[in-house]
Amino acid sequence: MLVNLTRMLRVAKDGHYAVGHFNTNNLEWSKAILLAAQELNSPVIIATSEGAGKYMGGFYAVAQLVRALDKDLNITVPVCLHLDHGTYEGAKACIAAGYTSIMYDGSHDSFETNIAHTKELVNLAHDNGLSIEAEVGSIGGTEDGVTADGEIADPKECAQIVSLGIDCLAAGIGNIHGIYPKDWKGLHLDVLAKINAATNNIPLVLHGGSGIPDNQVKQAIIEGVSKVNVNTECQLAFAEATEKYCAEGKAHDYLNKGFDPRKLLKPGYEAIKAKVEEKIKLFGSVNKANY
Ligand code: 13P
Repeated sequence: MLVNLTRMLRVAKDGHYAVGHFNTNNLEWSKAILLAAQELNSPVIIATSEGAGKYMGGFYAVAQLVRALDKDLNITVPVCLHLDHGTYEGAKACIAAGYTSIMYDGSHDSFETNIAHTKELVNLAHDNGLSIEAEVGSIGGTEDGVTADGEIADPKECAQIVSLGIDCLAAGIGNIHGIYPKDWKGLHLDVLAKINAATNNIPLVLHGGSGIPDNQVKQAIIEGVSKVNVNTECQLAFAEATEKYCAEGKAHDYLNKGFDPRKLLKPGYEAIKAKVEEKIKLFGSVNKANY
């Protein structure tokens, strides 16, 4: 069942748990995310960056694939198809293509431009039944070739953007995309608490969810995070499992047709599914599908 984020995250915020946002790249990824959520009876957010959307053939291809899998796999838990870190143009394209939610990331522009674009996209998204996430204070690290230094969001700017009517807010609190450096100082949970207090109970989003110690993730959920984004840990799980299969010589096992893509990609698929299940349990959304 495809839905937007509005109610999914409101209920999560009230229930003090978070819903996992998992980036997809292809058929295996999409199946693994949907089936993990279904088995744990959890709502789930399946997302593409603009780069992944392009890689998969385009936003229409993604929307059709996810909708078709939802039907063919008899998925009954709420599924949101979300655009991750969208540009102004990309966000509009995803509204037209059949996504159920967009993120507009105007954090690289001036705050005034961010406000103006977010305002316009809030109306467009809501008129079409979609939810919208906005960002203040860019998330550090590199994702899909876009690199940004981590910023700490200003609670006043957060309150201003929330007043535009967005459904959830990504605010930089020292989190970064990709692998955290060894000398990383941790999440600024004190700033998160201030942002939470300043933003009228809006569901908050924690980007860069890979590699943050579990106790910090749990504390962030207590402080108001209702959506946690995970990408890199699924990529690492897939790569490690596939590498192991190949290192064991299985791709060259001609007798058992180990080169068959369905066999070659299976360990990676299973590793992503296990990772998604692990995160859903950590975020506390098991058995929260019926809201
Ligand atoms: P990671 O790749 O660090 O898990 O971050 C994912 C993310 O925040 C997507 O927006």
